[in-house]
Amino acid sequence: MSPAERVAGLGTTIFTEMSALALRTGAINLGQGFPDTDGPASVIEAAVEALRGGENQYAPLPGVPALREAVFEHQRSWYGLDPEDVLITFGATEAIASALLGLCDPGDEVVVLEPYYDSYAACISFAGATRRPVTLRPPGFAVSEDALRAAIGARARLLLLNSPQNPTGRVLNRAELEAIAAACVEHDLICVSDEVYEHLVYDGEHIPIATLPGMAERTLTISSVGKSFSFTGWKIGWCSGAADLVAATRAVKQYLTFAGGTPLQHAAAAALRLPRTEVEALRDDLRAKRDQLCSGLDAAGLRPLVPAGTYFVNADVGVDAVAFCRALPARCGIVAIPTSVFYDDREAAATLVRFAFCKRPEVIAEAAERLAALR
Ligand SMILES: Cc1ncc(COP(=O)(O)O)c(C=O)c1O
Repeated sequence: MSPAERVAGLGTTIFTEMSALALRTGAINLGQGFPDTDGPASVIEAAVEALRGGENQYAPLPGVPALREAVFEHQRSWYGLDPEDVLITFGATEAIASALLGLCDPGDEVVVLEPYYDSYAACISFAGATRRPVTLRPPGFAVSEDALRAAIGARARLLLLNSPQNPTGRVLNRAELEAIAAACVEHDLICVSDEVYEHLVYDGEHIPIATLPGMAERTLTISSVGKSFSFTGWKIGWCSGAADLVAATRAVKQYLTFAGGTPLQHAAAAALRLPRTEVEALRDDLRAKRDQLCSGLDAAGLRPLVPAGTYFVNADVGVDAVAFCRALPARCGIVAIPTSVFYDDREAAATLVRFAFCKRPEVIAEAAERLAALR
């Protein structure tokens, strides 16, 4: 089977199907994970300034110095981390792909918490590696230490982590992160930690795993300007951490895209340098939207599992979620995604549906009204 055939059946097909359904039926699309408003105006101004100011040629391979410096500073000031190196990428997605291709040999095993973001499975497959899922089960989606240990085989090379997690909205707590860190140290695993929702935490706190003992030297931390700052279309991401891990990622990135988005890299530096109060205001706005959609789901008789982070909420619809989602646009004009597409073990979340709440309040209000028709 070719690599393309291996990844063709992954969850993305349902996104295409659902987006087409949304277009055809005029349904409100709560399937797609991007905001319907722009991020801060000052950051857009920084992009315009860079475009007009002649920042329109290739960036250096590691990224423009202003953004690299902003990432170093961000890691230091928010988390007390002091990464050895930083690489700017085309979104977190390119960092994930480059890291897996640069750090895994064919036949290696990658331990990954499932449900997982769909690019993980594709990139593990492109690297010729095998995924070993650790299943998080509703309603709590807690990490079971037994399941974690059982997933770590003799060929395990890397653990791919995502907290705050898409699609569950889980923010892993310190005890869970300590168990993961202990397993990484014991089995000498590299940890690739996808933290793109780092500033979208409504309950509890985001703890970068690189801050735990023994982890800074074995962790590559990934983030981007897409989610936390509402610029998903810019595709400006970065990774930071131990020099050898960043170097391996950079060696692959060089031959994927080399560099890109120069003016937007300058603007992303402005985003990372926003005052904390502005970052918190973006988060608080999304918290209000979370609460609004959760009330709507509750009122419609769909039981929301209130998320601590990200901009996704899962609801237990009590019936087969794939059939439910296929019928939902015609039943009430809403598009959503069955959570099982993010699992290898599709039975683990057979009745869960993922809804995105990164939409304007009036859109969420209209969605809630439509959902109420299901009662
Ligand atoms: C967990 C996770 N990682 C990475 C990404 C992609 O990030 P970017 O747009 O910066 O490539 C997403 C987007 O949905 C995501 O949910």
